[in-house]
Amino acid sequence: MTLPLVDDVVLRPVAVDDAEALTEAYVRNREHLRHWDPRRPDDFFTLRGQVIRVEDQLEQRNTGRLMPWVLADGDSVVGCVNLSNIVLGPFRSGSLGYWVDAAYNGRGLATAAALAACQVADERLRLHRIEAGTLLDNVASQRVLAKAGFEAIGVAPHYLHIDGSWRDHKLFQRILNERPPGG
Ligand SMILES: CC(C)(COP(=O)(O)OP(=O)(O)OC[C@H]1O[C@@H](n2cnc3c(N)ncnc32)[C@H](O)[C@@H]1OP(=O)(O)O)[C@@H](O)C(=O)NCCC(=O)NCCS
Repeated sequence: MTLPLVDDVVLRPVAVDDAEALTEAYVRNREHLRHWDPRRPDDFFTLRGQVIRVEDQLEQRNTGRLMPWVLADGDSVVGCVNLSNIVLGPFRSGSLGYWVDAAYNGRGLATAAALAACQVADERLRLHRIEAGTLLDNVASQRVLAKAGFEAIGVAPHYLHIDGSWRDHKLFQRILNERPPGG
């Protein structure tokens, strides 16, 4: 399902056909993302690397563990949103991750995308909770989460391997509803 976000930018599920536009987007934003992302092998910035990555994402989507979206402006990919580590049972939780093209920052896109992902998680995936983690100095991302209704729940030391080392993260969650599991 394609969801309108801001201006002409939409949020839609990723497809293998996006691999070329994804490659261009990651090459264009390599410096913009470096400090906030895991170290990427050179292959990640090639069409072959993106085809493999999208195929892996679609496999995970088919087993219900991942919802991968792109932010698209026409034929260009201008960001990504993922709901990963989807777990059902009494947890019914997923982890939100996102980035927005440097040229599109400051237009409310990440916030609109986070809100849309929460709505899908609540109404279609029937999850109870979404979590997200940011580096301690990622003030822009913390602002996005606050605007999207997340609350800070603590700091996890040495939580994720980002930009070459294990980094402390500020953790957030948004409780989506009080439906019982399976309800
Ligand atoms: C973080 C990121 C997703 C924000 O995307 P965006 O589309 O610009 O976000 P929005 O426009 O919805 O909101 C950004 C908010 O952060 C604020 N902001 C931006 N830079 C800031 C800074 N250095 N200090 C304080 N606030 C800042 C903006 O003013 C805005 O808040 P406002 O609406 O109250 O003015 C984008 O910068 C990005 O992709 N960064 C690199 C990857 C990344 O950090 N991903 C998240 C990992 S947790």
